[in-house]
Amino acid sequence: MNVSILGIPMDLGAGRRGVDMGPSALRNAHLATRLRELGHEVHDLGDIGVALPETLDKHEEAGLVFLEPILDACRSTVGRVAELPADTFPLTLGGDHSVAMGTVTGNALRGNPAGERTGLIWVDAHTDYNTPRSSPSGNIHGMPVAHLTGLGDARLSGLGGPWQLRPEDIVMIGIRSVDRHERDLLREAGIQAYTMKEVDQMGITRIVEETLERLSGVTRLHVSFDADALDPSVCPGVGTPVPGGLTYREGHLLMELLSESGRVTSMDIVEVNPVLDLHNQTAEVMVGMAASLLGQRIL
Ligand code: ARG
Ligand code: MN
Ligand code: MN
Ligand code: MN
Repeated sequence: MNVSILGIPMDLGAGRRGVDMGPSALRNAHLATRLRELGHEVHDLGDIGVALPETLDKHEEAGLVFLEPILDACRSTVGRVAELPADTFPLTLGGDHSVAMGTVTGNALRGNPAGERTGLIWVDAHTDYNTPRSSPSGNIHGMPVAHLTGLGDARLSGLGGPWQLRPEDIVMIGIRSVDRHERDLLREAGIQAYTMKEVDQMGITRIVEETLERLSGVTRLHVSFDADALDPSVCPGVGTPVPGGLTYREGHLLMELLSESGRVTSMDIVEVNPVLDLHNQTAEVMVGMAASLLGQRIL
């Protein structure tokens, strides 16, 4: 396969510094080499330009911290991803999870004049379904999915023009931290979320079967993988760790089964924070997750 790596070194949407170094940390963990070893043709397209917080006044507008520079970065990302050829697999590297507004929209619009549906598999401890009104923090990385479905601020929800993600085309896995009002919004939208309780109860295998069945009418599938979905003992280098996460093997099994389905067309790796990490462990684990999604097998 042809794989296109694109970094979005942005931490403006997170409450603490450091995930802007995620793309470097992942490259340092030999991302491209690992994928080439699997037989892929890998092109690293470099990074999207993102403003540095030190050069900006910490500006909060209508409950949205750093709205303007985040909008700029997401718009550039949409443009860059949407113009990638249809036969490449975009592997986008955050950055905080607000980058997903750009990557999911870009992938949904990429070579898609017929308006085929895009499915989103959101692997995360958090649902990131806050709006500016429901958010306890004002941090935009807690809001990307809500905006992708058209809620919240019109500038962020309008990144794809008239295109919007349908709530029924979203499946979340690994969830264990949802804010109070966020939970109501999630229920109203009817989004399928497999919490850690379902992971414990049903196992990853059945969850993947149900997910693929639910999304059987969807031609493009994007996986957005937040490193904090994995347990903090596996991925300590994240800004918003939550105990009780996916084990190392659950993460790999999830990627292996999605890979076997042959249906995933793009992926994000986000929220890797090398500042909070130990010996780049989190980036190394996440490179392994990408490798499993892109065909790595034990035997
Ligand atoms: N729910 C919290 C908030 O809205 C935390 C969100 C964490 N999101 C993330 N992508 N790590 O602020
Ligand atoms: Mn997230
Ligand atoms: Mn998260
Ligand atoms: Mn929209």
